[in-house]
Amino acid sequence: MNKPVESDDIWDANLYDGKHGFVSKYGNNVINILEPNMGESILDLGCGTGDLTKTLYDLGVYVTGMDKSANMIDQARFKYPDIPFQVGDATALPFDETFDAIFSNATLHWIKSPEKALQSIYHSLKKGGRFVAEFGAKGNVKTITNSIEKQFAMLGLTYQQERFPWYFPSVGEYASLMELVGFKVVYASQFERPTPLEGGNGLRNWIEMFGKMMFIGLEYETIQKIITGVENDLRDTMFQDNSWIADYERIRVKGIKE
Ligand code: BEZ
Repeated sequence: MNKPVESDDIWDANLYDGKHGFVSKYGNNVINILEPNMGESILDLGCGTGDLTKTLYDLGVYVTGMDKSANMIDQARFKYPDIPFQVGDATALPFDETFDAIFSNATLHWIKSPEKALQSIYHSLKKGGRFVAEFGAKGNVKTITNSIEKQFAMLGLTYQQERFPWYFPSVGEYASLMELVGFKVVYASQFERPTPLEGGNGLRNWIEMFGKMMFIGLEYETIQKIITGVENDLRDTMFQDNSWIADYERIRVKGIKE
């Protein structure tokens, strides 16, 4: 019998780089919205293993990469030893009017206290500084998570809503929060972005990598049953040309600290 899943640092940096490289690929579009200038100081919040931090560094930015996961930061330092990286929490940033811009790709949906994160981001920006982010919006991966919930029910298990790992706001909700904190919201959009998950095991890999929190306390065999059930449930609608297509829905925002 295998050990039940634990809730500590859930990030496997090698797996992330090996099978989920698409995350930073899409982030290049967000860098266009950021419009970074040479010599600016920019925080890459939720930098993962540092690929977008490196893109900013190569553009002549004084960039710092930050991530809550020590595994990710270790890997980022190993890959890009010239770039400063630090472990840190978006809701308690240790900065005071330090950055010209704060950039965040595919991270803020992990933070369930968005007001605290926005306050901390606001505080860390210089006056006139900008905050640019993309993350999962309301409805993100809903087909997948609905199917997971269905498999729990079919196995007679209780699906605990509080274990849902993500915060997926609508663009209206998040823009309002930004304004409440003091940002002038100059750009906000929400859009569907069907996202291919590489290979026949793409959906399984995605759930195993990102959905761990939903399975805390379950035996390995039970988790595998749930994931196989999801694959069977969604194959007809989500598997095309040897690739799973996840129903990503994105939010993109840009705010200015006035
Ligand atoms: C996302 O980028 O939308 C995402 C990634 C992993 C888990 C949930 C959402």
